[in-house]
Amino acid sequence: MFYDPRSETHGLPHDPFKSCVAPRPIGWISSQSEDGVINLAPYSFFNAVADDPPTVVFATTGDDVYGLKHSISNIEATGQFVCNIATWDLREQLNKTSAPVPAEIDEMQFAGLTAAPSQLVRPPRVAEAPIHLECEHYQTIDLPFNGKGRNSLCIGHVVGIHISESVLTDGLVDMAKLRPIARLGYHEFTSVESVFKMTRPTAKDL
Ligand SMILES: Cc1cc2nc3c(=O)[nH]c(=O)nc-3n(C[C@H](O)[C@H](O)[C@H](O)COP(=O)(O)O)c2cc1C
Repeated sequence: MFYDPRSETHGLPHDPFKSCVAPRPIGWISSQSEDGVINLAPYSFFNAVADDPPTVVFATTGDDVYGLKHSISNIEATGQFVCNIATWDLREQLNKTSAPVPAEIDEMQFAGLTAAPSQLVRPPRVAEAPIHLECEHYQTIDLPFNGKGRNSLCIGHVVGIHISESVLTDGLVDMAKLRPIARLGYHEFTSVESVFKMTRPTAKDL
């Protein structure tokens, strides 16, 4: 099949686009309002896009019932956020934090999670998550959007990285211990269960 999404419908029961780019890692973004209310929400239009300096992006698409999503309003107001890495064990709590809730609700408490202080930024980390990236907001790029509200690509520089000893083996992050979850299309998710290695060819191999 082929369709031009600018002018044609896909003709399928559900939009297949997100299934075509899968799995997508999930940034579980903690932020804080200027008043100090803790916010937490998952974003799967998320990735690491550079490593020197380490840089992450996530995109917040459209308004929810409370208007602009709280993650982006908090980050634009305070300039800071944390990407918590979601794992298989935390999948239910992660899903709970995707519910639209009023701005005055502490979403870590709401999901039964523990706030751990960050070292270099004000928003706390999810204590139960084994990896956290403390971030400073670098820039927001507003993308075209056919829906209601903003479609904002939020770019952050990672200024602090926490890795729990519990997911390290011989000094390497061990995916079998970490078991990160990722988003597929529709309501589907996956978790990393198998890993394979390939070494990169050099000019001599050609
Ligand atoms: C796994 C998962 C991934 C999601 N990814 C995104 C995303 O990339 N962009 C987005 O705007 N909403 C995404 N959502 C929906 C937001 O999490 C949801 O709108 C949330 O209420 C936003 O919270 P906030 O207003 O506290 O930022 C996702 C939901 C789930 C469960």
